[in-house]
Amino acid sequence: MGIILNSENLKGFVKPQDVDALSSRIKKAHDELESGTGAGNDYTGWLKLPSFIDDQFLDELVSFGKEVRSFSDCLISIGIGGSYLGIRSTIDFLRQEARIPVYYAGHNMSVDNLAGLLEEVKDKNISVVVISKSGTTTEPALAFRVIKKFMEEKYRDDELKKRIICVTDKEKGALRKIADQNGYRSFIIPDDVGGRFSVLTPVGLVPLAIAGIDIKALVEGARVGEKEYGCMDLEKNIAYQYAANRFCLFNQGKVIEVMASFYDNLFYVHEWWKQLFGESEGKNGKGIFPASLILSTDLHSMGQLLQDGVRNLFETFIEIEEQKNRIIIPEDEQDLDKFNCVAGKDLDFVNKQAYKATAAAHVEGGVPNMTITIGKGDAFHLGQLYYFFEKAVAVSGYLLGVNPFDQPGVEAYKKKMFELIGK
Ligand code: PA5
Repeated sequence: MGIILNSENLKGFVKPQDVDALSSRIKKAHDELESGTGAGNDYTGWLKLPSFIDDQFLDELVSFGKEVRSFSDCLISIGIGGSYLGIRSTIDFLRQEARIPVYYAGHNMSVDNLAGLLEEVKDKNISVVVISKSGTTTEPALAFRVIKKFMEEKYRDDELKKRIICVTDKEKGALRKIADQNGYRSFIIPDDVGGRFSVLTPVGLVPLAIAGIDIKALVEGARVGEKEYGCMDLEKNIAYQYAANRFCLFNQGKVIEVMASFYDNLFYVHEWWKQLFGESEGKNGKGIFPASLILSTDLHSMGQLLQDGVRNLFETFIEIEEQKNRIIIPEDEQDLDKFNCVAGKDLDFVNKQAYKATAAAHVEGGVPNMTITIGKGDAFHLGQLYYFFEKAVAVSGYLLGVNPFDQPGVEAYKKKMFELIGK
């Protein structure tokens, strides 16, 4: 089935002619991306990355992952932002597929979090992947200092070398030096792919291969995405339609996009998407604020605001057509709760009715919404979905007139923090 975009519930908010009117601007954005002449063109390596990835390299990574798993009970993945979210979103989405537990560090500086993690893994066979493109980011650098010492106390020499793996720049940054000086195995992050677009580089592929995720299917899905969303025809290209719809809604004062899903394994996919869109669009006083909810859970806490609050938002639902499992609702003789009406049905049937009802109620309440439906919750569809959003945000940034590939604003707090810590 692949991925489908349903824009029915934009009726009354976005007219087909509004989208058509954007076609020449979208074509310009498309051409600038393809020809590498647009803003930030030195960071568009992600564009052809799926087809560029060598199958032999993927096979080598799969074998490497298997080897590391053979002596590891668990993996600690150290990184933040683009060096964290794609890994966590993939593993959490495919939660039943990871063959060893993956723990995360370096994505915050919470002492209790790191101390708790080290306590939990202390008697296990551990491997560590530390990921940092710059090699100088505070949170992962400090977490790695602590975890490196912990590993040095637990392992010696060759044992240590095979258990610490670095993913970083080919020559720049402290992590490159640490890897080379200590003889740790290392993988290179390409220069032309920024953090939030890097899930299909060794940033994502190395820890995912160690966890036992089907990285070949993930890349295969992204390859399908590269083909489908590489087409200029706005009628056919749903990534461009999504970008165009968002742009029209933004221009009507819909400044918040709520990504809402009825499947909680999409929680970190939402987080990945928030970084991708927030960091790409939010500059020069522009940008839609990306928010997210897991439904129906959050309907019981945020449903009131969605239905009836300030009308400055729109929603994008992600639906999953087919669940891996089935849970049939049992018949109950007494039927005190009056739910025998769905006895014998799969629980997902009710979940899907909840989605349909929510989408209809929200549009009636003044919240236009779109739905992205993916065929299955597997690695292939996730790979395609990643590429869908990457392509959409690139065009969206160009429509807004910003460089979607830089993040100069992120430096401001760092400067102040370095002053405070004397760096
Ligand atoms: O998108 C980005 O560039 C950032 O989120 C980075 O990925 C994040 O700050 C981590 O950077 P680094 O990989 O250099 O440690």
